[in-house]
Amino acid sequence: MKLRFTKTAIFLAALIPLERLAWKALHSGLGANPIEFITHSTGDWTLILVLTTLSITPLRRITRQYWLIGIRRMIGLFAFFYGCLHFTTYIWLDKFFDVHEMAKDIAKRPFITVGFSAFVLMIPLALTSTAWSIRRLGGKNWQRLHRLIYLTGILGVVHYTWLVKADLHKPIEDGVVLSILLLYRVGVWVSEKRKQSSIPAPARSGVEVTKA
Ligand code: HEM
Repeated sequence: MKLRFTKTAIFLAALIPLERLAWKALHSGLGANPIEFITHSTGDWTLILVLTTLSITPLRRITRQYWLIGIRRMIGLFAFFYGCLHFTTYIWLDKFFDVHEMAKDIAKRPFITVGFSAFVLMIPLALTSTAWSIRRLGGKNWQRLHRLIYLTGILGVVHYTWLVKADLHKPIEDGVVLSILLLYRVGVWVSEKRKQSSIPAPARSGVEVTKA
């Protein structure tokens, strides 16, 4: 009941940036360069939601609120949704599907390739986000594949840092948040390795010991 309510609230909250854009578009509130406004807004929200998705596991472990795992998929899918809007804004509204124009732009602004790579890595994650995919791939393989989100986060921050011309404040903030979230995982991994190596070898190879 609590989870269903939280999911509904998050679903509605995650639509607010889109509603805000639609509202501004209808009331001439997108400023002098509406395409730039939409590109920046959708880019911002893609990165914010990628970082939010990455924060669920640490938050869940630290607070012992294990139900939080139930909202991770939805937030991840919203990150992909805003990524799709960001990409569509670029190829449609900005470049009118003009491949020649895009190639010229990519050559001039290599940060676009980095953003595109970050986006491409999100596709297998979105496609395998269902319970059926977890069963099909097996938990371990699924987890391995979903580590691609770390790369999406890193490339997203590089993309942002590279494109900013003057004030690096915001991309650095995002970079710090991402570093904390990734270092937390490294810390957990190191402590699990240590725990494993402190268990005597025969006890670690469970089945064989029992057989012997
Ligand atoms: C799909 C491929 C992508 C393309 C073609 C693309 C392209 C762009 C462009 C042209 C800009 C505006 C640059 C400027 O104003 O000079 C931008 C901004 C941005 N993009 Fe991307 N991007 C892509 C993917 C991504 C992804 C996956 C993320 C996040 C993980 C992301 C995050 C951002 C951010 C945070 C901004 C800056 C927003 C701001 O200035 O407030 N982009 N992108």
